[in-house]
Amino acid sequence: MSSAREGSEAPFTPEQEATIASLEADLSERLAHKPRRLSHSLNVGHEAERLARIYGVDPYLARLAGILHDWEKATRDAELVDVARDLGIELAGDELEEVAPLLHGYVAAKTLPERYPWLPEEVLRAIERHTVGAADMGPLDMVLFVADGIEPSRGSVAALDAQRELVGTVSLEELWWRAFRDTIAYVVETGRHLYPGTIAIYNEVAARRA
Ligand SMILES: [Fe+2]
Ligand SMILES: [Fe+2]
Repeated sequence: MSSAREGSEAPFTPEQEATIASLEADLSERLAHKPRRLSHSLNVGHEAERLARIYGVDPYLARLAGILHDWEKATRDAELVDVARDLGIELAGDELEEVAPLLHGYVAAKTLPERYPWLPEEVLRAIERHTVGAADMGPLDMVLFVADGIEPSRGSVAALDAQRELVGTVSLEELWWRAFRDTIAYVVETGRHLYPGTIAIYNEVAARRA
């Protein structure tokens, strides 16, 4: 009997396996100049699949979202700001330059469908939300957000190890809420710009949970 920690082991269909292999090949080409980002992305695909199986989320969609979530990390920040502006992307109360590191998820959600028109809306939404989060995170959104933080190449960091220990022992919402708050703590500890939208999300979720 498999434990909750191991989750469902149902394999992918041959078509799903083929799609995964072709997306991984496309990403390898796109991120050939960024090998660490590439291995991070492939790892997030596996980690998101693992979390999805544990928490009863679609493991195939989780794998796709993980592989593609940093697709626009191939684009330099300065260029990304221009692309985001052209796409009409706005982040409340901030100049786009201030939040350049947050833009790649929002941009990818708009550019990926040009290349992969078949990508499900839920996958695009999870990718869109993987940097900032949202007040109404769905299960796939939470799986990707957490997987992005804890995949093995992030290394051994106290907060991440604590999250890894929680996998399968707390609800997915609880796990995401921990990861989200740890992200804010990290931004504050390292003295970086904290996006006001993040504070709004924090306050909305905290009020709901109170
Ligand atoms: Fe990212
Ligand atoms: Fe990432």
